[in-house]
Amino acid sequence: MGEVFYVTTPIYYVNDMPHIGTAYTTVAADAVARYQRLKGRRVFFLTGTDEHGQKVAQAAAERNQNPQDWADSMVPHFKETWRILNISNDDFIRTTDNRHTKVAQVFIQKLKDKGDIYLGTYEGWYCVYDESFLLSSQIVDGGCPECRRPVEWVKEENYFFRLSKYADRVLKHIEENPDFVQPESRRNEVISFIKSGLSDQSISRTSFTWGIPLPFDARHVMYVWFDALLNYISAIDFGSNMKRFEEIWPADLHLVGKEILRFHAIIWPAMLFAAELPLPKRIFAHGWLTVEGQKMSKSLGNVIAPKELVDEYGADAYRYYFLREFSFGIDGNFSRRTLLGRYNAELANDLGNLSSRVLTMVMKYRDGIVPEPKASGAEENRLREIIPEILAKLDVKMAALAFNEALSAVWDLVHALNRYVDVSAPWSIASDPSKKKELDTILYTSLEGLRILALLIYPFMPETGRKIWERTGMSEKITQARIPEAANWGALRPGSKIVTGEPLFPRKPE
Ligand code: MSP
Repeated sequence: MGEVFYVTTPIYYVNDMPHIGTAYTTVAADAVARYQRLKGRRVFFLTGTDEHGQKVAQAAAERNQNPQDWADSMVPHFKETWRILNISNDDFIRTTDNRHTKVAQVFIQKLKDKGDIYLGTYEGWYCVYDESFLLSSQIVDGGCPECRRPVEWVKEENYFFRLSKYADRVLKHIEENPDFVQPESRRNEVISFIKSGLSDQSISRTSFTWGIPLPFDARHVMYVWFDALLNYISAIDFGSNMKRFEEIWPADLHLVGKEILRFHAIIWPAMLFAAELPLPKRIFAHGWLTVEGQKMSKSLGNVIAPKELVDEYGADAYRYYFLREFSFGIDGNFSRRTLLGRYNAELANDLGNLSSRVLTMVMKYRDGIVPEPKASGAEENRLREIIPEILAKLDVKMAALAFNEALSAVWDLVHALNRYVDVSAPWSIASDPSKKKELDTILYTSLEGLRILALLIYPFMPETGRKIWERTGMSEKITQARIPEAANWGALRPGSKIVTGEPLFPRKPE
């Protein structure tokens, strides 16, 4: 089971447009997926949209639209956002897809047949924004503990899932598998929440109709979270193509924002236990982003669409910034000043200049032909030796989802290469015919370093990685390259032709 590396994002509600918060998870998942592919793993990377429930129904009603039409009109915005950010998802699941609704019905029927679902009455608080049932003890200042919005008092006939029956098993699993819920601080929160006692979970609604009808009682629609969590198995053909399902399931990694960790770390495992399916290997909750120190919200008018930043900086600079600036597990603050600062210092200066000066010198001194290196000296050896160290560090940091540290390791190579070019000062020997071999070696070494660098930045900045790779004269596609083999020294063939190309990251006025 699970031969494929399976990584997921949450499926996003279609009540509103995607923004830099939603894109944060998707960009991170893309870096993970691309890194795993680079390592030669078969990857299945899933994202999609969560289209049922009261919140989406309300959003549609406010525009006098029926919810299906509304969802249909919103989905292209998500797809387009992932396209401009160069997201390499293998599938896009919609909870209104027939393939999903069928699986959700089969799944819930299975739990019903088992006796894990019973009819009752829910009376309590409900937060429409978070689509969550809340205990009175959870209410903070009369509002939702998560989003602080006003909550509704709901009394309706609901079906319940015997969550309490599985509480001990879920707790035991979390305690025995330290990697299952991460980061550690969030894992502890989940553990204490379970220990405080779990009641059964309402899993249907009767006060509106926008949802998947229960197969055993069509007066009810499925609770949107029960429906949504099942996307992770409906997209891989649970129930219809079990061979494929078993190749992909269990998920290696569910990436989620911290506010939805409980659904993933408590309800979802209990649902899977009830259905006798293996649990995902790892659930990682990342922090939330604020914008210039404030929570992003429509009322504050500070919601930023990824497109706005991509138009200004390009997709790769966007991806670089969000992965480099923040520590994934904790909250962070987006600011235009830090974006511009990193763009100029790390992309325009460190990376862009490195690439353009190396390529320009090869063009100028060797007519753009990769020279044959001769005996290497201490500086060359030093540069070559750090590459395996950087690769090892990158691997450890990627496994920990410490994207900022992974990029900082990659930048060690950027700095080492810049330093190498500085100390070797090829321009100072360029006109001395007796130093021809020396110059050849310096140019080859810089180019080969640049080629390897292209590979390492590829998961984070796929376009830039590809461009640098091709400019150094590689004819094989970067998508075919695998680490660590492709990062072995010497793959660049003397005699190939390099390309200088347009500046990668033109400097911007500060
Ligand atoms: N539909 C549910 C998820 C169901 S998964 C089975 C949902 N959707 S959502 O549209 O509200 O998206 C929530 C996710 O978007 C968060 O978990 C997080 O991944 C991301 N973010 C939304 N706003 C964010 C920030 N301000 N900062 C960082 N990430 C945030 O919840």
